Amino acid sequence: MKRFEGQVAIVTGGAQGIGLGVAQRLGAEGASVVLLDQNGALASEREAELSGDGIEAMALQADVTDRQAVEGAVAKVLERFGRIDVLVTAAGITGATNIKTHEVDPDDFDRVMTLNVKGIFLCIRAVLPAMLKAGYGRIVNMASISGKDGNPGMLAYSTSKAAVIGLTKVIGKEYAETGITCNALAPAVIRTAMADGLPPEQLKLLTDKIPMKRIGEVEEVVHMIAFAASPECSFITGFTFDASGGRAVY
Ligand SMILES: NC(=O)c1ccc[n+]([C@@H]2O[C@H](COP(=O)([O-])OP(=O)(O)OC[C@H]3O[C@@H](n4cnc5c(N)ncnc54)[C@H](O)[C@@H]3O)[C@@H](O)[C@H]2O)c1
Repeated sequence: MKRFEGQVAIVTGGAQGIGLGVAQRLGAEGASVVLLDQNGALASEREAELSGDGIEAMALQADVTDRQAVEGAVAKVLERFGRIDVLVTAAGITGATNIKTHEVDPDDFDRVMTLNVKGIFLCIRAVLPAMLKAGYGRIVNMASISGKDGNPGMLAYSTSKAAVIGLTKVIGKEYAETGITCNALAPAVIRTAMADGLPPEQLKLLTDKIPMKRIGEVEEVVHMIAFAASPECSFITGFTFDASGGRAVY
């Protein structure tokens, strides 16, 4: 029997990058996957591709910072599938980078914090009632090495990812006796559109810090996320897993 057979997984930011990789993997292992993304057109294209691969997929356009949109999307998932076993929160942005703190635009800081932190909170808040009712749930948040280490040039992003690590600890502990686990992953740079969008100086700085001296591939983080999203991850909660080519050894 496949690991996610009969399960339903919502993946935010599922239209591309790490989120899409997670959706493909969980789908290949039996899950019905919901691609919840701001980019509705791309999510629909991916839905068609996944369906072509024999995966039950559903694209939903929603901005994770919009409470009504998130709650409406979760209601649609429950209407169609009647359950939510897994939530992977991969929607995120870096905001402006390669700038020092005195150069950070406070509006950009707000934008990054709202999406990377409040967006995750809103999605988790929306799925928890169904998970509590079922007595089972796996929540996996995309944090970043920047939240553990603090990446110079990335104040807003690093601050937001440190918050994701903190939020993950609280939720892990609050629901520890309910069958729901909440963990995070803190990767170093991974080859996606997000990494492609970084200024070359910023990308070089981040790659140079990795002892393996290369950036990671989506598949290399998907393995860990799939474990944290699976029934096998039953005695680990509130934890932030590493995938940083040796950069974080703590
Ligand atoms: N790529 C990296 O180097 C790296 C490293 C560490 C952590 N991460 C984290 O992993 C996650 C995924 O990163 P990625 O590289 O795949 O990014 P990406 O830019 O390739 O994909 C992000 C997805 O999120 C969606 N999205 C953006 N804003 C949204 C919103 N408001 N509502 C709903 N969807 C929205 C986008 O449309 C896109 O499909 C992010 O949280 C990121 O911070 C990435």
